[in-house]
Amino acid sequence: MDLTYSSYLKLDQLLGLQEPRSHPAEHDEMLFIISHQAYELWFKLQLHESEKIKRDFLDNHLYGAIATFKRVRTIMKVMVEQIDILETLTPMSFNSFRARLDTASGFQSSQFREFEFVLGYKRKDMLKYQQQGTPAYDRLVRKLNEPSVVDCFYSFLQQQGVVIPTELSTRDITLPSVPNEIVEEGILRLYKSQPNMEILFELMTDFDEGFQEWRYRHIKLVERSIGSKQGTGGSLGVEFLKKSLFHPVFHDLWAIRHKL
Ligand code: HEM
Repeated sequence: MDLTYSSYLKLDQLLGLQEPRSHPAEHDEMLFIISHQAYELWFKLQLHESEKIKRDFLDNHLYGAIATFKRVRTIMKVMVEQIDILETLTPMSFNSFRARLDTASGFQSSQFREFEFVLGYKRKDMLKYQQQGTPAYDRLVRKLNEPSVVDCFYSFLQQQGVVIPTELSTRDITLPSVPNEIVEEGILRLYKSQPNMEILFELMTDFDEGFQEWRYRHIKLVERSIGSKQGTGGSLGVEFLKKSLFHPVFHDLWAIRHKL
């Protein structure tokens, strides 16, 4: 049979994956399911692009990294905007099917954790909330043990003449990335002397700001939907989420802004 739009995109499977749990079906549950599925697809693409950025950095491929950062920060903007759609769901409407979610929560999204890990925000204890023995769990463990985008960024900077202290190049890569003053000095020099580096660093900052914006918008969404209720994932809800708010991925790019 000839390839068609539908067979290429596997639309029969894709469009058969939205199954509301409420009976009789609550109208708004469809919105809830589709928006979460859309996010998971964006996470998948972000993970795919993050691997490309890592390769670009390792290969000292500046223009490749610029092009891909332009893409990931644009996807991030869409991810932030998509929250608007969920905010058309009123608290009462959400409540009409919330109980059907049982203990399911975005908190269990393994792709979201993979995304944090690949970027360098690694927290090993987050593994305990994932289901062991699943392919998703194995992928997450792999990401924990692989160099992050920040680790590969160090390699790129080194190839651009920046001194990377041994404590960073030999560090335990399962730990979260941390700011470093020597790296910051090197970045500052490149920022001021090379316009193409300035473009890269600004795109990285855009992306990082976008991720923090997503966290903020998600918290506000949670606050207006469930207020001070606990999350279905069992956390304190808003109070738990606030811990990661304002947590940057590229610490060093934020630390030097007053010197630019
Ligand atoms: C009405 C809409 C939503 C509500 C009420 C809500 C609520 C919550 C709550 C309360 C938490 C804290 C964990 C827990 O469940 O105890 C959480 C975490 C999370 N949610 Fe949502 N959420 C909503 C929409 C979304 C959407 C659209 C996504 C997109 C994938 C999402 C992804 C996440 C992620 C990734 C976490 C973990 C965040 C972290 O650990 O920093 N949520 N959500």
